[in-house]
Amino acid sequence: MTAENPLKTPVLVLGATSLIGGHLLARLREAGVEPFAVSRRPPEDGACWLDADLTATDLSEYLADRLPAVATVFSLSPIWLLPAALPALKARGLSRLVAFSSTSRFTKEASPDADERAVARDLADAEAAVEAWCAAHGVAWTILRPTLIYDEGRDGNVSRIARLVKRFGVMPLSGAGEGLRQPVHAADLAAGALAAARAPAARDRAYDLVGGETLTYRAMVDRVFQGLDRRPLTLPLPTWLFSLIMRLARPFYPGATLAMGTRMGQDLTFNSADAVRDFGWAPRGFRPRF
Ligand SMILES: NC(=O)c1ccc[n+]([C@@H]2O[C@H](COP(=O)([O-])OP(=O)(O)OC[C@H]3O[C@@H](n4cnc5c(N)ncnc54)[C@H](OP(=O)(O)O)[C@@H]3O)[C@@H](O)[C@H]2O)c1
Repeated sequence: MTAENPLKTPVLVLGATSLIGGHLLARLREAGVEPFAVSRRPPEDGACWLDADLTATDLSEYLADRLPAVATVFSLSPIWLLPAALPALKARGLSRLVAFSSTSRFTKEASPDADERAVARDLADAEAAVEAWCAAHGVAWTILRPTLIYDEGRDGNVSRIARLVKRFGVMPLSGAGEGLRQPVHAADLAAGALAAARAPAARDRAYDLVGGETLTYRAMVDRVFQGLDRRPLTLPLPTWLFSLIMRLARPFYPGATLAMGTRMGQDLTFNSADAVRDFGWAPRGFRPRF
């Protein structure tokens, strides 16, 4: 049994409209906590909300004038936006921070795609900045790095595969699609973030958070077919041909990169044993339903 403290309130959620946000707001309410949300769009469930762009040049003054008192902050927006907001959050009472980063800081470090390498650098730099700032200002921090996040019908990874399957009935693969994946559900990440915020052992530490199953890219695609009640039909293609298709598909599927094909054959696996030990991380197996 993981040791737990009560959650320090009031609670503020940055990036409440993210994949994890809706699940986290619901869990907080179940725990009797009314969260305050910050994002550029309003959260769907009508939470108390501040419209703020974390890239704004006058961010500190803007937040200083509008933020309510706060003790715990969950940061679900890109972590590179967090350092600029920390002084204003501290001024309103921040003492406990749980911030999401990504295992992309490792998997995209040596990507052939320059934009992906820049993302990896931004993630690593932001993690270091958050850790240093919190240490210097007496804020207990936890950084959570999920692998590939899914939430049926809402994400740009697994749900994108489901959309392709529905449209074409077949899923092309680069090579045999033997690279290992650990998809993690957004709802499990919300539960994990809450558990981490309450666990004394999770203070001042970073964790890689993987899903409950490790499976090949191809097996992951097969499960998506099953989640749509369809018989799996994948089409292994030579990597050069898959790359050509990605190049042609780019205008129709923004975010498609040539590196995606190369990665299908690579293992992107991490270990969450520390998170299991420190805050009872218990993700579900990969059985998406659409
Ligand atoms: N998706 C994945 O597979 C994946 C994998 C590993 C880690 N992660 C990390 O996990 C977290 C959640 O991921 P996600 O995919 O759910 O993120 P997302 O859908 O991109 O959502 C990001 C959140 O940040 C907010 N946001 C973005 N730019 C903002 C700005 N300039 N000012 C204020 N708010 C801003 C967005 O709200 P508005 O647009 O309403 O402002 C949204 O609520 C992120 O930290 C992400 O880096 C994601």
